[in-house]
Amino acid sequence: MVVAIGCDHAGVELKRQISWLLKGEGIEVMDVGTNSAESVDYPDYGAVAAEAVSNGQADAAVLICGTGIGMSIVANKFKNVRAALCRDVYTAKMSREHNDANVLVIGSRVTPGELTEDILKAWLHTKYEGGRHDERLKKISMIEGTIELKT
Ligand code: RB5
Repeated sequence: MVVAIGCDHAGVELKRQISWLLKGEGIEVMDVGTNSAESVDYPDYGAVAAEAVSNGQADAAVLICGTGIGMSIVANKFKNVRAALCRDVYTAKMSREHNDANVLVIGSRVTPGELTEDILKAWLHTKYEGGRHDERLKKISMIEGTIELKT
């Protein structure tokens, strides 16, 4: 499994921690930066990771910015990307079971480091439930234009 990971200047330290955790899970990490505390624009990094998920280069991505909001907005512009901003373990699980989220977004300034580890593990190890959720995801694909709209 390949997981892309990206952040802005607010998430560099947390990106390092998450990369280490991902590698510990036997996951191949595609690090798209940034790697310094110098102020950068989150769309530049979020777009690279989200594009990798959208075109199948990566199976999933983890994005980090201060609140997680900017990265979520950017990632959800990409086709076939379902990005979920998670601040607790329950939301992380639900984002997989119900929404088949393929991008996890974390706000480094609002989520404590220890909780981030639990959120990440819950997200990685929870499977999509399918069933009634398939029709809902299909409707999202219709809205984004990746499958044809029913008339
Ligand atoms: C950067 O200061 C901050 O705006 C960014 O990390 C993020 O929170 C945006 O949504």
